[in-house]
Amino acid sequence: MKVGIFDSGIGGLSVLHHAMKVMPQTHFLYYADREHVPYGEKTVEEIRGFVEEILNFFIEKQVDAVLIACNTATSVSDMEFRSRFPVPIVGMEPAVKKAVEQYHEENSRILVAATPVTIAGNKLHLLLDRVDREHEVDLIALPGLVRFAEAGEFDSSQVDAYLRQELSQFDLNRYGTVVLGCTHFNYFKRNFCRIFPGNVDFVDGKGGSIRQLLRLLHQEEASDCSHQVDYYFSGKPASETELKQIEMYLTRLEEMYQIYRRKANAKHFL
Ligand code: DGL
Repeated sequence: MKVGIFDSGIGGLSVLHHAMKVMPQTHFLYYADREHVPYGEKTVEEIRGFVEEILNFFIEKQVDAVLIACNTATSVSDMEFRSRFPVPIVGMEPAVKKAVEQYHEENSRILVAATPVTIAGNKLHLLLDRVDREHEVDLIALPGLVRFAEAGEFDSSQVDAYLRQELSQFDLNRYGTVVLGCTHFNYFKRNFCRIFPGNVDFVDGKGGSIRQLLRLLHQEEASDCSHQVDYYFSGKPASETELKQIEMYLTRLEEMYQIYRRKANAKHFL
């Protein structure tokens, strides 16, 4: 089975990282549109154009399905747009429903962090109308984190200062859950933890999107997975240097996965 996964850049590696753990026997094609990152600060028409180009690239490569590992690209590509392509296409949206239904605790609020395009998009507001009945959800656009992630800058004081500044408009004591509504934000869990005074849970949509993809492909989650990955940067095969960078990003994601999986288990299952 051949599956195309794409993002504007390296954010979608967080989705690939998870997919490699649970999808059986898959040949992944990972496409980072680095020539056009950040999507979250472009116009809807521009982003649709990039998405169309990438989907055509995947069709030429004869993939069986595509996973849009980008909340921003999903937010501008509706079902009608996606149905023009001859393979199943699964998107990702901020996991607000999951946060409200599974993580929310009384008297604590939920913060959804995403790109400016996702935050302003109709799709997110329609979702909030459906699931945020008690008005417990607040929104914040954090485009700076996309730039830091692309530069490979994670634990610097500049990143924390940026986050602190952007979050200063909220009383952080009131928040128990952060929805990572941009795949680039997965790299910054540790920074969020340093800034929020209490314990926060992180929720995102990658697990749900991968399960949906498996359903469409009539497959089940597996724990014994063998896979092959080909990496492309805006249509060109990744160079040796780019492959080394990818390895560094995947190492960081594995680190986050190990730390925060343990924490989530401790909070919810003990
Ligand atoms: N990683 C993308 C997302 O999930 C977008 C980042 C960007 O290019 O602005 O929304």
